[in-house]
Amino acid sequence: MTDEPRIFSGIRATGDKTLGNYSGGYRQYVATQEQGEAFFCIVDLHSITTPIEPDDLREYTLSGAAMLFATGLDPDRSTVFAQSHVVAHAEAAWLLSAATSFGELRRMTQFKEKSEGQDFVSAGLFTYPVLMAGDILLYQTDIVPIGDDQRQHVELTRDVAERFNQRYGETFTVPRGVYPEEGARIKNLQEPERLMSTTRGAPQGVVRMVDEPDVIRKKFKTAVTDSEREIRHDPEAKPGISNLLEIMSVATGDPVAELERRYDGAGYGRFKEDVGEAVVALLSPIQDRYRELRADERELQRLLAVGAEKARRASEPTLEAMYERMGFVKAEAGRLFGAARPRGL
Ligand code: TRP
Repeated sequence: MTDEPRIFSGIRATGDKTLGNYSGGYRQYVATQEQGEAFFCIVDLHSITTPIEPDDLREYTLSGAAMLFATGLDPDRSTVFAQSHVVAHAEAAWLLSAATSFGELRRMTQFKEKSEGQDFVSAGLFTYPVLMAGDILLYQTDIVPIGDDQRQHVELTRDVAERFNQRYGETFTVPRGVYPEEGARIKNLQEPERLMSTTRGAPQGVVRMVDEPDVIRKKFKTAVTDSEREIRHDPEAKPGISNLLEIMSVATGDPVAELERRYDGAGYGRFKEDVGEAVVALLSPIQDRYRELRADERELQRLLAVGAEKARRASEPTLEAMYERMGFVKAEAGRLFGAARPRGL
């Protein structure tokens, strides 16, 4: 046990990751791992709440893990693991479902949004927030760095933790959500009024983490700007240029104000080219590490196994306390049946 704060975040295993995911996700995770004892969980169990092909789940889990390591999570410093490798998550979800009400879950806006108009709505989509609460509470988490869209789920987690603590005695740390400021939310290069995402918006305006350098350069060259000539950060009047300034800032670490000064009078053409080069320089080493890991699946599996072992050890005491306080009888393994014997012998 240390005095460092416990940090937990879950990363959805979904399709192609973008520069937007880097800015709002990966980049923050790497910064976060320096601030405490951090757990980063690829939440593959959550992925089956909406239809997904088995091959895709497998691919997304491995690529998600590879990208976490490639962008700088350190397997020695942090615990990086797949949710399904630590069975405590599924167990905790079931136990916590007793301390979560139907009414609470029914109010979740994400459930309403995701279930609307679907002809098959899984029970898992409805109970998703309980699984998420378990993810967080199993680790006695202090801080959950997470997107603003998850605020309601974190609030529910806090309510469930308090209710459980009240009913069964102090068991969980009540966690706090930490939401990154608006601002560094990268937009589609072709439609700078909408977020960069692979599921919506012009594909030409979406920079994927695994795009080839020339593809990246081209996307920036053709980025939408405006009819002025001034390189100035003004998201209302100049969404395209403002977005490019923010991207440049993410890629180089230089503040936007300094970039405005540097590119004063430079012209849009040169600026766009430079932003493209800065992004290529940022992504190239990440892509190299990513490809290396994807080519060596055994190494990736090994890293995940190390993470799973650490996560099991960290979550076990909490899960045991949950069972015990709720009144479950402890199983004494092996007593009743003696040594296992192969069938027929
Ligand atoms: N629900 C989160 C999302 O959609 C992912 C997630 C699952 C998560 N479990 C978590 C995030 C626990 C933080 C902590 O982004």
